[in-house]
Amino acid sequence: MLAGKLFVFLIVSLTSCCFRLPTFPEAKLVQEEVDALEEIARTLGSKYWKFNADTCEIEMVGVTQVPPKNSAQRIDCECNKGNNSDCHVTRMELKRYNLPGVLPTQLVNLPRLQVVDFAYNYLNGTLPREWASMQLTSMGDSKGTGKYYHSHHLVPRSEPIFWHNPP
Ligand SMILES: *[C@@H]1O[C@H](CO)[C@@H](O)[C@H](O)[C@H]1NC(C)=O
Ligand SMILES: *[C@@H]1O[C@H](CO)[C@@H](O)[C@H](O)[C@H]1NC(C)=O
Repeated sequence: MLAGKLFVFLIVSLTSCCFRLPTFPEAKLVQEEVDALEEIARTLGSKYWKFNADTCEIEMVGVTQVPPKNSAQRIDCECNKGNNSDCHVTRMELKRYNLPGVLPTQLVNLPRLQVVDFAYNYLNGTLPREWASMQLTSMGDSKGTGKYYHSHHLVPRSEPIFWHNPP
């Protein structure tokens, strides 16, 4: 059974490799989350945003068209078994983009999100109260101490948390 599946997978992979460009595996993000990502990027203060929902890849983000040299981004989508159009964001990282916005409450619209890291940006404001309801397992610390806040720290709070970072 498994061998059969693997065989089919190989055939499909080979076919997509050789007869179709580009050769990304399909992992189509659901439209609600495509929209949520765009709002999140706007809230973070990103001027540019281009996302490929079919491959789950950020093609353009940030305040400049060419990203800062040491910037880093990663986004992971995971699909429900047997349905490559039922994929959800599980991880989102945008580091060293000089983003000037605030922490986006809209993260709650990514219900499978577990890991988020917006380190080394210029985000300002409070930790959104709404995040407390999420299943976040780790959240980067933009002060660059390498410390992570865990979900039990994501309690509603009113004092501002400044996410300014050293130059
Ligand atoms: C796959 O997921 C999409 C998006 O959630 C849904 O519209 C579609 O009906 C699903 N297909 C199957 C075969 O379950
Ligand atoms: C950051 O937010 C605080 C509190 O809302 C505000 O007083 C301050 O001016 C903001 N700083 C920047 C650089 O936006």
